Amino acid sequence: MRIALALVLTLAACAAARAQKFDDLARTPPMGWNSWNRFGCDVSERLIRETADALVASGMKDAGYQYVVIDDCWHGERDEEGNIHPDAARFPSGMKALADYVHSKGLKLGIYSDAGAKTCGGRPGSRGREYQDARAYASWGIDYLKYDWCNNEGLKAEGAYTTMRDALHAAGRPIVFSLCEWGSNKPWEWAKDVGHLWRTTGDITACFDCEKSYGTWSPLSVMRILDLQKDLRAHTGPGHWNDPDMLEVGNGMTTNEDRAHFSMWAMLAAPLMAGNDLRSMSRETRDILTNREVVAVNQDALGVEGFKYLAEGALEVWLKPLQGGDWAACFLNRGETPRAVTFEWKRNAVTDGLSHASFSPDKLTYRIRDLWAKRDAGTTAAPFAAEIPSHDVVMLRLSK
Ligand code: GLA
Repeated sequence: MRIALALVLTLAACAAARAQKFDDLARTPPMGWNSWNRFGCDVSERLIRETADALVASGMKDAGYQYVVIDDCWHGERDEEGNIHPDAARFPSGMKALADYVHSKGLKLGIYSDAGAKTCGGRPGSRGREYQDARAYASWGIDYLKYDWCNNEGLKAEGAYTTMRDALHAAGRPIVFSLCEWGSNKPWEWAKDVGHLWRTTGDITACFDCEKSYGTWSPLSVMRILDLQKDLRAHTGPGHWNDPDMLEVGNGMTTNEDRAHFSMWAMLAAPLMAGNDLRSMSRETRDILTNREVVAVNQDALGVEGFKYLAEGALEVWLKPLQGGDWAACFLNRGETPRAVTFEWKRNAVTDGLSHASFSPDKLTYRIRDLWAKRDAGTTAAPFAAEIPSHDVVMLRLSK
């Protein structure tokens, strides 16, 4: 009896230790790069190695980007025992060697699979092979798994994702688990203990504000995705993040639009997964992705998602409470023409009902830092005045 009890307690302690190991993986929103937005199915070990090199050389690693994630289409076939292998033509050295290379750069390697029998790109999915695949990923040294939802044939999302979560835990290697079921089953309501991040919408496209349709599916513009985050902020926090999809910075929008996109993802405490070609990015793109003061807003330890404080036509003012009583404020001009703004801080005291943090410019004077101009910009004692270009932002940090 006593032995049985001891066994139960030991197993429970092991399970708790295992869960703890996974819990600590994403205390702030994950940062890295993913192949899909720019390269689609055109992935190879050469691309991944060169991207890892570029992450280091560009200063992105130093700015906090860590995960290099291979999205769909890395797969070859399963062997007679059902073990999955990478496409031998595209990954001739194998995944273990690639992981070793990425790790040698001080970075981490991510991979992609699907809860159905096939991925969205028609490659082998993990359905019925979850434990086997998780063991393979762990043996290769994988650190991050994005798990998609194509061809799910009526599976229940919570069950399917929990099975893979359990498989990853059983395989034992700490792996960030990224749920990609496009918000279809409201993962924010059930996935807090299943994964570290969950997509909240369908796929993003490199368009600031437009409607696109390709027959059966319609990718979403940056502004459309921003609007779809409404009412989700209560569900995000350290270890479990709303994911409004990967970045399109450097993929064809204007510099102003890229800056606005990046700023809003920072305000949302969104995972920051760059999606451009890091080997050939422009200086402007690099400067956006590596703006450390903007990244610091995203990575703030409080882990509270920002909120839309007010909207006047095409102008929106977003606020995000930060650690130590600081706040981030982002003035977003969604309109087609420049917009002059005057903002009376003293008349805009705010208490966030969710975090209970208070912004009190009526009682206190905050120092203002302009995060894109990279300069101090007075205090909240005087009204703030700026002209914001079309599809751009002014982003500020307010410190007591
Ligand atoms: C889905 C996902 C994308 C990407 C592709 C790959 O559309 O939402 O992010 O992973 O599949 O096929």
